[in-house]
Amino acid sequence: MKKVLVTGGAGFIGSHTCVELIAAGYVPVIVDDMRNSDDRILKGIEKIVQRKVVLHRIDCGIETELEKVFREEGPFFGAIHFAAYKSVNESVAEPVKYYANNIGSLVSLLNVSKRHNMNRLVFSSSCAVYGLATSLPVDEKAPATNANSPYGYTKVVCEQLLRDASHCDPDLRVVMLRYFNPVGAHPSALIGELPLGIPNNLVPYVMQTAAGLRNELTIYGSDYGTPDGTCQRDYLHVVDLAKAHVQALNFLNTASSERCEVFNLGTGRASSVKEVVDTFVRVTGAPVRSRMGPRRAGDVPSIFADASKAHKALGWSCAFDLADALRDAWAWQRTLDTDPVAASTP
Ligand code: UFG
Repeated sequence: MKKVLVTGGAGFIGSHTCVELIAAGYVPVIVDDMRNSDDRILKGIEKIVQRKVVLHRIDCGIETELEKVFREEGPFFGAIHFAAYKSVNESVAEPVKYYANNIGSLVSLLNVSKRHNMNRLVFSSSCAVYGLATSLPVDEKAPATNANSPYGYTKVVCEQLLRDASHCDPDLRVVMLRYFNPVGAHPSALIGELPLGIPNNLVPYVMQTAAGLRNELTIYGSDYGTPDGTCQRDYLHVVDLAKAHVQALNFLNTASSERCEVFNLGTGRASSVKEVVDTFVRVTGAPVRSRMGPRRAGDVPSIFADASKAHKALGWSCAFDLADALRDAWAWQRTLDTDPVAASTP
Protein backbone atom coordinates (compact mmCIF):
# COMPACT_ATOMS: atom_id res chain seq x y z
CA MET A 1 0.00 0.00 0.00
CA LYS A 2 1.53 3.31 -1.09
CA LYS A 3 0.42 5.92 1.42
CA VAL A 4 0.86 9.55 0.40
CA LEU A 5 0.76 12.42 2.85
CA VAL A 6 -1.27 15.26 1.34
CA THR A 7 -0.96 18.52 3.24
CA GLY A 8 -3.80 20.87 2.37
CA GLY A 9 -5.60 17.88 0.91
CA ALA A 10 -9.05 19.33 1.61
CA GLY A 11 -8.32 22.45 -0.47
CA PHE A 12 -9.25 23.14 -4.08
CA ILE A 13 -6.33 21.43 -5.83
CA GLY A 14 -5.62 19.06 -2.92
CA SER A 15 -9.10 17.53 -2.92
CA HIS A 16 -9.05 16.85 -6.67
CA THR A 17 -5.57 15.36 -6.31
CA CYS A 18 -6.79 12.98 -3.57
CA VAL A 19 -9.42 11.65 -5.98
CA GLU A 20 -6.80 11.04 -8.68
CA LEU A 21 -4.37 9.46 -6.20
CA ILE A 22 -6.99 6.92 -5.19
CA ALA A 23 -7.87 6.23 -8.84
CA ALA A 24 -4.16 5.49 -9.41
CA GLY A 25 -3.91 3.09 -6.46
CA TYR A 26 -2.31 5.41 -3.91
CA VAL A 27 -3.78 5.95 -0.44
CA PRO A 28 -3.90 9.62 0.51
CA VAL A 29 -3.61 10.66 4.15
CA ILE A 30 -4.86 14.22 4.39
CA VAL A 31 -3.43 16.74 6.81
CA ASP A 32 -5.56 19.86 6.83
CA ASP A 33 -6.75 22.11 9.65
CA MET A 34 -9.71 23.04 7.44
CA ARG A 35 -9.10 26.79 7.76
CA ASN A 36 -9.83 27.15 4.06
CA SER A 37 -12.14 24.23 3.41
CA ASP A 38 -15.30 22.63 4.63
CA ASP A 39 -16.52 19.16 5.61
CA ARG A 40 -18.60 18.97 2.45
CA ILE A 41 -15.36 18.68 0.44
CA LEU A 42 -14.35 15.62 2.45
CA LYS A 43 -17.79 14.12 1.93
CA GLY A 44 -17.54 14.93 -1.78
CA ILE A 45 -14.21 13.12 -2.14
CA GLU A 46 -15.62 10.10 -0.32
CA LYS A 47 -18.69 10.05 -2.51
CA ILE A 48 -16.61 10.15 -5.70
CA VAL A 49 -14.19 7.42 -4.63
CA GLN A 50 -16.77 5.38 -2.72
CA ARG A 51 -14.59 4.91 0.36
CA LYS A 52 -13.54 6.66 3.56
CA VAL A 53 -10.63 9.05 3.41
CA VAL A 54 -8.30 9.66 6.36
CA LEU A 55 -8.05 13.27 7.56
CA HIS A 56 -5.87 14.61 10.38
CA ARG A 57 -7.22 18.00 11.36
CA ILE A 58 -3.93 19.65 12.26
CA ASP A 59 -1.74 22.54 11.16
CA CYS A 60 1.20 20.90 9.40
CA GLY A 61 3.32 23.89 10.40
CA ILE A 62 3.27 22.57 13.97
CA GLU A 63 6.06 20.02 13.88
CA THR A 64 4.98 18.07 16.96
CA GLU A 65 1.52 17.55 15.46
CA LEU A 66 2.90 16.46 12.11
CA GLU A 67 5.31 14.14 13.90
CA LYS A 68 2.31 12.37 15.47
CA VAL A 69 0.77 11.80 12.02
CA PHE A 70 3.99 10.28 10.72
CA ARG A 71 4.14 7.98 13.77
CA GLU A 72 0.51 6.92 13.44
CA GLU A 73 0.25 6.64 9.66
CA GLY A 74 3.79 6.16 8.36
CA PRO A 75 5.73 5.04 6.51
CA PHE A 76 4.75 7.22 3.59
CA PHE A 77 5.73 6.56 -0.01
CA GLY A 78 5.83 10.33 -0.53
CA ALA A 79 4.23 13.65 0.27
CA ILE A 80 2.43 16.31 -1.73
CA HIS A 81 2.63 19.70 -0.06
CA PHE A 82 -0.29 22.00 -0.89
CA ALA A 83 -0.87 23.62 2.50
CA ALA A 84 -0.25 27.34 1.98
CA TYR A 85 -2.00 30.70 1.76
CA LYS A 86 -2.68 31.69 -1.84
CA SER A 87 -4.21 35.15 -2.13
CA VAL A 88 -1.99 37.63 -3.93
CA ASN A 89 -3.92 40.66 -2.54
CA GLU A 90 -3.93 39.41 1.02
CA SER A 91 -0.21 38.73 0.85
CA VAL A 92 0.43 42.38 0.01
CA ALA A 93 -1.55 43.46 3.10
CA GLU A 94 -0.18 40.75 5.41
CA PRO A 95 3.23 39.66 4.15
CA VAL A 96 4.53 38.33 7.48
CA LYS A 97 1.54 36.02 7.81
CA TYR A 98 2.31 34.66 4.32
CA TYR A 99 6.02 34.13 4.86
CA ALA A 100 5.46 32.54 8.29
CA ASN A 101 2.78 30.13 7.11
CA ASN A 102 4.04 29.20 3.65
CA ILE A 103 7.70 28.80 4.59
CA GLY A 104 7.05 27.52 8.12
CA SER A 105 4.85 24.66 6.93
CA LEU A 106 7.48 23.51 4.41
CA VAL A 107 10.25 23.68 7.02
CA SER A 108 8.12 21.61 9.38
CA LEU A 109 7.42 19.03 6.67
CA LEU A 110 11.09 18.78 5.67
CA ASN A 111 12.20 18.32 9.28
CA VAL A 112 9.68 15.61 10.06
CA SER A 113 10.19 13.89 6.68
CA LYS A 114 13.93 13.69 7.29
CA ARG A 115 13.45 12.11 10.72
CA HIS A 116 11.21 9.48 9.13
CA ASN A 117 13.27 8.88 5.98
CA MET A 118 10.45 10.11 3.76
CA ASN A 119 12.33 11.17 0.65
CA ARG A 120 9.81 11.93 -2.09
CA LEU A 121 8.18 15.33 -2.20
CA VAL A 122 5.92 17.08 -4.70
CA PHE A 123 5.67 20.81 -4.07
CA SER A 124 2.87 23.12 -5.10
CA SER A 125 4.49 26.15 -6.72
CA SER A 126 3.11 28.83 -9.00
CA CYS A 127 3.79 30.75 -12.18
CA ALA A 128 3.86 33.71 -9.77
CA VAL A 129 7.61 32.98 -9.45
CA TYR A 130 8.07 34.36 -12.99
CA GLY A 131 6.70 37.81 -12.13
CA LEU A 132 6.75 39.92 -15.28
CA ALA A 133 7.84 37.33 -17.83
CA THR A 134 9.60 38.93 -20.78
CA SER A 135 9.27 36.11 -23.28
CA LEU A 136 6.11 34.08 -23.98
CA PRO A 137 5.23 31.29 -23.62
CA VAL A 138 7.24 30.91 -20.41
CA ASP A 139 9.41 27.85 -19.98
CA GLU A 140 11.19 26.68 -16.84
CA LYS A 141 14.45 28.37 -17.84
CA ALA A 142 12.91 31.85 -17.56
CA PRO A 143 14.08 33.86 -14.54
CA ALA A 144 12.00 32.73 -11.56
CA THR A 145 13.16 34.96 -8.74
CA ASN A 146 11.37 38.26 -9.40
CA ALA A 147 7.85 37.65 -8.17
CA ASN A 148 5.26 40.42 -8.14
CA SER A 149 3.88 39.86 -4.65
CA PRO A 150 4.83 38.50 -1.22
CA TYR A 151 2.76 35.41 -2.11
CA GLY A 152 4.94 34.87 -5.18
CA TYR A 153 8.10 35.41 -3.13
CA THR A 154 7.03 32.74 -0.63
CA LYS A 155 7.05 30.31 -3.58
CA VAL A 156 10.46 31.61 -4.75
CA VAL A 157 11.87 31.07 -1.24
CA CYS A 158 10.30 27.60 -0.87
CA GLU A 159 11.68 26.54 -4.26
CA GLN A 160 15.16 27.70 -3.25
CA LEU A 161 14.85 25.94 0.09
CA LEU A 162 13.97 22.72 -1.70
CA ARG A 163 16.86 23.08 -4.15
CA ASP A 164 19.27 23.63 -1.25
CA ALA A 165 17.82 20.77 0.81
CA SER A 166 17.98 18.30 -2.09
CA HIS A 167 21.50 19.47 -2.93
CA CYS A 168 22.86 18.41 0.44
CA ASP A 169 20.66 15.34 0.94
CA PRO A 170 21.42 12.67 -1.69
CA ASP A 171 18.28 10.71 -0.77
CA LEU A 172 15.79 13.54 -1.18
CA ARG A 173 13.92 13.76 -4.51
CA VAL A 174 11.71 16.75 -5.21
CA VAL A 175 9.35 17.81 -7.99
CA MET A 176 8.17 21.41 -7.95
CA LEU A 177 5.08 22.10 -10.01
CA ARG A 178 4.48 25.65 -11.23
CA TYR A 179 0.75 25.99 -11.78
CA PHE A 180 -0.66 28.57 -14.15
CA ASN A 181 -4.37 29.38 -13.50
CA PRO A 182 -6.25 26.34 -12.12
CA VAL A 183 -10.02 26.55 -12.66
CA GLY A 184 -13.03 24.25 -12.97
CA ALA A 185 -14.32 21.54 -10.68
CA HIS A 186 -14.69 17.79 -10.65
CA PRO A 187 -17.13 16.76 -13.45
CA SER A 188 -19.27 15.05 -10.79
CA ALA A 189 -19.92 18.49 -9.20
CA LEU A 190 -19.21 16.89 -5.83
CA ILE A 191 -16.05 18.91 -5.16
CA GLY A 192 -14.85 22.29 -6.39
CA GLU A 193 -13.52 25.64 -5.25
CA LEU A 194 -14.87 27.21 -2.05
CA PRO A 195 -13.67 30.81 -2.04
CA LEU A 196 -13.74 32.51 1.36
CA GLY A 197 -15.59 35.84 1.25
CA ILE A 198 -15.44 37.96 -1.90
CA PRO A 199 -13.42 36.08 -4.52
CA ASN A 200 -10.26 37.73 -5.86
CA ASN A 201 -9.92 35.35 -8.77
CA LEU A 202 -11.73 35.69 -12.04
CA VAL A 203 -13.52 32.38 -12.42
CA PRO A 204 -15.02 32.23 -8.89
CA TYR A 205 -16.16 35.85 -9.36
CA VAL A 206 -17.80 35.00 -12.69
CA MET A 207 -19.56 32.03 -11.03
CA GLN A 208 -20.90 34.11 -8.15
CA THR A 209 -22.04 36.89 -10.48
CA ALA A 210 -23.91 34.43 -12.68
CA ALA A 211 -25.39 32.87 -9.52
CA GLY A 212 -26.68 36.28 -8.39
CA LEU A 213 -24.39 36.46 -5.33
CA ARG A 214 -22.50 39.44 -6.85
CA ASN A 215 -23.99 42.32 -8.83
CA GLU A 216 -21.48 42.51 -11.62
CA LEU A 217 -18.01 41.53 -12.64
CA THR A 218 -15.45 44.29 -13.07
CA ILE A 219 -13.03 43.52 -15.88
CA TYR A 220 -9.74 44.95 -14.70
CA GLY A 221 -8.37 46.84 -17.68
CA SER A 222 -9.34 46.92 -21.34
CA ASP A 223 -6.34 48.82 -22.69
CA TYR A 224 -3.65 46.15 -22.55
CA GLY A 225 -1.68 45.35 -25.67
CA THR A 226 -3.59 42.07 -26.15
CA PRO A 227 -5.96 41.32 -29.07
CA ASP A 228 -9.09 42.44 -27.18
CA GLY A 229 -7.36 44.69 -24.65
CA THR A 230 -7.99 42.47 -21.61
CA CYS A 231 -5.37 40.39 -19.77
CA GLN A 232 -4.51 36.90 -20.94
CA ARG A 233 -3.91 33.90 -18.69
CA ASP A 234 -3.43 30.16 -19.10
CA TYR A 235 -6.47 28.52 -17.47
CA LEU A 236 -6.16 24.79 -16.85
CA HIS A 237 -8.78 22.37 -15.58
CA VAL A 238 -8.16 21.35 -11.97
CA VAL A 239 -8.62 17.65 -12.82
CA ASP A 240 -5.81 17.84 -15.39
CA LEU A 241 -3.69 19.59 -12.79
CA ALA A 242 -4.54 16.97 -10.16
CA LYS A 243 -3.43 14.18 -12.50
CA ALA A 244 -0.05 15.84 -12.93
CA HIS A 245 0.60 15.28 -9.21
CA VAL A 246 0.12 11.55 -9.59
CA GLN A 247 2.48 11.57 -12.57
CA ALA A 248 4.99 13.60 -10.54
CA LEU A 249 4.89 11.00 -7.76
CA ASN A 250 5.43 8.22 -10.30
CA PHE A 251 8.29 10.24 -11.75
CA LEU A 252 9.94 10.48 -8.33
CA ASN A 253 10.18 6.72 -8.36
CA THR A 254 12.13 6.65 -11.61
CA ALA A 255 15.85 7.15 -12.11
CA SER A 256 16.62 10.76 -12.96
CA SER A 257 19.83 12.70 -12.94
CA GLU A 258 18.21 15.69 -11.24
CA ARG A 259 17.26 15.40 -7.58
CA CYS A 260 15.11 18.52 -7.75
CA GLU A 261 13.01 19.03 -10.88
CA VAL A 262 10.63 21.81 -11.82
CA PHE A 263 7.74 21.67 -14.30
CA ASN A 264 5.31 24.22 -15.67
CA LEU A 265 1.70 23.08 -15.73
CA GLY A 266 -0.56 24.93 -18.12
CA THR A 267 -2.42 24.38 -21.39
CA GLY A 268 -0.08 26.56 -23.42
CA ARG A 269 -3.09 28.58 -24.52
CA ALA A 270 -3.70 32.21 -23.57
CA SER A 271 -7.32 33.24 -22.93
CA SER A 272 -8.35 36.82 -22.27
CA VAL A 273 -10.72 37.90 -19.49
CA LYS A 274 -13.29 38.72 -22.14
CA GLU A 275 -12.90 35.27 -23.71
CA VAL A 276 -13.45 33.65 -20.32
CA VAL A 277 -16.70 35.56 -19.81
CA ASP A 278 -17.89 34.95 -23.38
CA THR A 279 -17.05 31.24 -23.21
CA PHE A 280 -18.87 30.92 -19.91
CA VAL A 281 -22.03 32.52 -21.31
CA ARG A 282 -21.83 30.39 -24.45
CA VAL A 283 -21.46 27.05 -22.70
CA THR A 284 -23.84 27.62 -19.79
CA GLY A 285 -26.39 30.05 -21.19
CA ALA A 286 -26.17 31.92 -17.87
CA PRO A 287 -25.81 35.69 -18.24
CA VAL A 288 -22.97 37.58 -16.49
CA ARG A 289 -23.26 41.31 -15.93
CA SER A 290 -19.87 42.90 -16.46
CA ARG A 291 -18.32 46.32 -16.87
CA MET A 292 -14.88 47.51 -17.86
CA GLY A 293 -12.91 48.96 -14.97
CA PRO A 294 -9.40 50.24 -14.34
CA ARG A 295 -6.37 47.96 -14.34
CA ARG A 296 -5.64 45.98 -11.17
CA ALA A 297 -2.28 46.72 -9.62
CA GLY A 298 0.27 43.96 -10.16
CA ASP A 299 -1.43 42.28 -13.13
CA VAL A 300 0.80 41.22 -15.99
CA PRO A 301 -0.76 41.73 -19.45
CA SER A 302 -0.23 38.17 -20.61
CA ILE A 303 1.30 34.96 -19.33
CA PHE A 304 0.97 31.40 -20.55
CA ALA A 305 2.96 28.22 -20.23
CA ASP A 306 5.37 26.25 -22.29
CA ALA A 307 4.64 22.92 -20.59
CA SER A 308 6.59 20.75 -23.03
CA LYS A 309 8.99 19.62 -20.29
CA ALA A 310 6.06 18.12 -18.31
CA HIS A 311 4.72 16.54 -21.52
CA LYS A 312 8.02 14.80 -22.18
CA ALA A 313 9.18 13.86 -18.69
CA LEU A 314 5.87 13.17 -16.95
CA GLY A 315 3.79 12.11 -19.94
CA TRP A 316 1.30 14.76 -18.87
CA SER A 317 -1.18 16.57 -21.10
CA CYS A 318 -4.51 18.33 -20.71
CA ALA A 319 -7.68 16.45 -21.55
CA PHE A 320 -9.99 19.40 -20.85
CA ASP A 321 -10.27 22.89 -22.29
CA LEU A 322 -11.55 26.20 -20.95
CA ALA A 323 -15.15 25.47 -21.97
CA ASP A 324 -15.09 22.15 -20.05
CA ALA A 325 -13.62 23.87 -17.01
CA LEU A 326 -16.23 26.63 -17.00
CA ARG A 327 -19.08 24.16 -17.49
CA ASP A 328 -17.82 22.05 -14.57
CA ALA A 329 -17.24 25.09 -12.36
CA TRP A 330 -20.81 26.22 -13.05
CA ALA A 331 -22.27 22.78 -12.23
CA TRP A 332 -20.40 22.94 -8.90
CA GLN A 333 -21.52 26.54 -8.25
CA ARG A 334 -25.13 25.50 -8.75
CA THR A 335 -24.79 23.01 -5.92
CA LEU A 336 -23.68 25.92 -3.71
CA ASP A 337 -26.59 28.21 -4.52
CA THR A 338 -28.67 26.53 -1.90
CA ASP A 339 -25.82 26.18 0.57
CA PRO A 340 -26.39 28.64 3.42
CA VAL A 341 -22.65 28.88 4.19
CA ALA A 342 -21.61 29.75 0.65
CA ALA A 343 -24.61 31.97 -0.02
CA SER A 344 -24.11 34.01 3.15
CA THR A 345 -20.50 34.98 2.45
CA PRO A 346 -20.25 38.78 2.02
N1 UFG B 1 -9.88 39.68 -13.19
C1 UFG B 1 -10.88 40.56 -13.51
N2 UFG B 1 -11.89 40.72 -12.62
C2 UFG B 1 -11.94 40.07 -11.43
C3 UFG B 1 -10.90 39.16 -11.10
C4 UFG B 1 -9.87 39.01 -12.03
O1 UFG B 1 -10.86 41.18 -14.58
O2 UFG B 1 -12.88 40.29 -10.66
C5 UFG B 1 -8.79 39.49 -14.16
C6 UFG B 1 -7.43 39.84 -13.60
O3 UFG B 1 -7.18 41.21 -13.71
C7 UFG B 1 -6.51 38.98 -14.45
C8 UFG B 1 -7.35 37.75 -14.76
O4 UFG B 1 -8.70 38.13 -14.49
O5 UFG B 1 -6.22 39.63 -15.63
C9 UFG B 1 -7.02 36.55 -13.90
O6 UFG B 1 -7.03 36.96 -12.54
P1 UFG B 1 -7.01 35.92 -11.34
O7 UFG B 1 -7.04 36.73 -10.08
O8 UFG B 1 -8.04 34.89 -11.53
O9 UFG B 1 -5.63 35.19 -11.52
P2 UFG B 1 -4.14 35.80 -11.51
O10 UFG B 1 -3.57 35.47 -12.84
O11 UFG B 1 -4.06 37.18 -11.06
O12 UFG B 1 -3.52 34.97 -10.29
C10 UFG B 1 -3.21 33.66 -10.48
C11 UFG B 1 -3.33 32.90 -9.16
C12 UFG B 1 -2.26 33.29 -8.23
C13 UFG B 1 -0.92 33.31 -8.91
C14 UFG B 1 -0.94 34.15 -10.15
C15 UFG B 1 0.37 34.15 -10.85
O13 UFG B 1 -4.58 33.13 -8.56
O14 UFG B 1 -2.24 32.35 -7.18
O15 UFG B 1 -1.92 33.62 -10.99
O16 UFG B 1 0.38 35.06 -11.91
F1 UFG B 1 0.01 33.83 -8.09
